[in-house]
Amino acid sequence: MVEISREERDVYLIPQNFVDTGTILGGTVKLRNAVEAAVLAVGSAVPLFYLPLAFNIRLMIVIAVSVPLGVFGVVGIGGDSLTQFAAHWFRFMKRRRIVTPTPQGNLDANRHRHLRFISKRYRVVYYNNSLVSLDNFNTRIYKNANMAILGTSGAGKTFTMQLIARRMRLAGTPVYIIAPLKGHEFYRQAKALNGTIIRIVPGSPDCINVMEIRKIDHTSSELLDGPMPEQSELAAKIQKLHIFFSLLIPDLSNEERQLLDEAIVTTYRNKGITYSNASLDDPAHPGQYREMPILGDLHAVLSSAPETRRIANILNRLVHGSASSFNRQTNVNLDNSYVVIDISELSGDLLTVGMYIGLDYMWDKAKEDLTRRKQIFIDEVWQIIGASSNALAANYVFEAVKTIRGYGGGVLVATQDLNDFFSLEDGKYGRGILNNCKIKIILNLEEEEAQRVQSVLKLTDAEIDNITRFERGSALIVTNSNNVTVDMRCSEEEKDLITTDRDELRRIVERKMQNQTETEES
Ligand SMILES: Nc1ncnc2c1ncn2[C@@H]1O[C@H](COP(=O)(O)OP(=O)(O)OP(=O)(O)O)[C@@H](O)[C@H]1O
Ligand SMILES: [Mg+2]
Repeated sequence: MVEISREERDVYLIPQNFVDTGTILGGTVKLRNAVEAAVLAVGSAVPLFYLPLAFNIRLMIVIAVSVPLGVFGVVGIGGDSLTQFAAHWFRFMKRRRIVTPTPQGNLDANRHRHLRFISKRYRVVYYNNSLVSLDNFNTRIYKNANMAILGTSGAGKTFTMQLIARRMRLAGTPVYIIAPLKGHEFYRQAKALNGTIIRIVPGSPDCINVMEIRKIDHTSSELLDGPMPEQSELAAKIQKLHIFFSLLIPDLSNEERQLLDEAIVTTYRNKGITYSNASLDDPAHPGQYREMPILGDLHAVLSSAPETRRIANILNRLVHGSASSFNRQTNVNLDNSYVVIDISELSGDLLTVGMYIGLDYMWDKAKEDLTRRKQIFIDEVWQIIGASSNALAANYVFEAVKTIRGYGGGVLVATQDLNDFFSLEDGKYGRGILNNCKIKIILNLEEEEAQRVQSVLKLTDAEIDNITRFERGSALIVTNSNNVTVDMRCSEEEKDLITTDRDELRRIVERKMQNQTETEES
């Protein structure tokens, strides 16, 4: 601490009444209140005094009416004088607004006279009516931009996710969504935002080649950190292919894994690709990578040896069988700022495989530009970290959630099945992912699910009680140590684009049919 010498210290006397400006009686009564009280008391006393009654009675009426009015005037209401209070009230009634986002992403302040009616109709819990804005990329507040949405079936996870995705996209953040179930729920909004829909399903023309080593643009990381020590891209790809195969063939033995490894290396070598990154460059097209092998090439290598024939037979489905659309070069790109990868029509074990392929593709894209924000959305994440998956794939998602911050991005995961979410290895991955999401949005949960979340997120009994009673649209946002109950609203246009509610969908169809008939008639 710096010592201040005696000479440098000045003493300033602050008069006792410095806060008493505009007051009388030693600061006890505000002048404005006193004047209003006098006007009220005298104003009511004079006409009362002229009433045609006996003097005593008139005196009693004046004491009963004017004196309380005078006291009321002196005290005021809530710290305001009576006229100030009246002015504030009129101003509030005139200016009150409901703030809703427009489809363009702006906030529209609609004048609304029936706040109370609306709050009843929508069962809104108004704590203090203030607008809550969530900027998950604000690094001063949140250590990472990851979010988790938990909610029971139909609570509004997909809806909330799409609402956030939309606002982010309109604010300029690229959005990549994986839709493992009910992919069609994402189409209307994706089309309205001119986004790209990639359908990874048997028979679809869209394909992501799982064996492709993608050329990643490292310009920004090299500008920041200088040239990086070379890591073999083939070695990294082989690691990822092992995850892919562990999902496809859960009972792969150690010996088979070793043989598979050798077969993968041979397949790449047949295309001229080795562990040296220089071998990836295509001499015929400088600046581009060589043509990559596809699953069919690996299948041919695996079929040629009897020890790997079992793997080849299982892979056959993706090469010649019902899912042969996996056996092609990548023919889609993630250049759009709103991309939905729909894998929802993949069945059984292929769903987890498809989820992994989609996520891996997005992850490569997310790693490109460190300076640019981007958000990956994974609906029904329990599919890839739950019991139907395995530790390798769950760890891959966990690592992605843990490291995406370093690439300027965020992951938003939504999950319904908490049992599955916490199933693998005693909930290690589920808990790890939740702990790496600075923002958790808890929608309505069933009693049992809520108890489970309570212990993981350390919520109070009152909060759990609230969560189990939430209506659609209400949520508890848990961030840092602040838990806030909010009500998520959308505009009518937004609702039309993302609702999954049958009645609302029917209304949209009816409206569209009516519009069509009107245009035809005119
Ligand atoms: N904030 C909200 N405002 C208005 N309507 C909402 C809101 N949240 C949810 N809804 C309504 O609830 C419906 C169901 O929500 P949604 O499909 O997102 O549920 P979900 O949790 O994803 O269910 P599932 O687990 O079955 O996929 C939505 O289609 C929408 O009509
Ligand atoms: Mg859903």
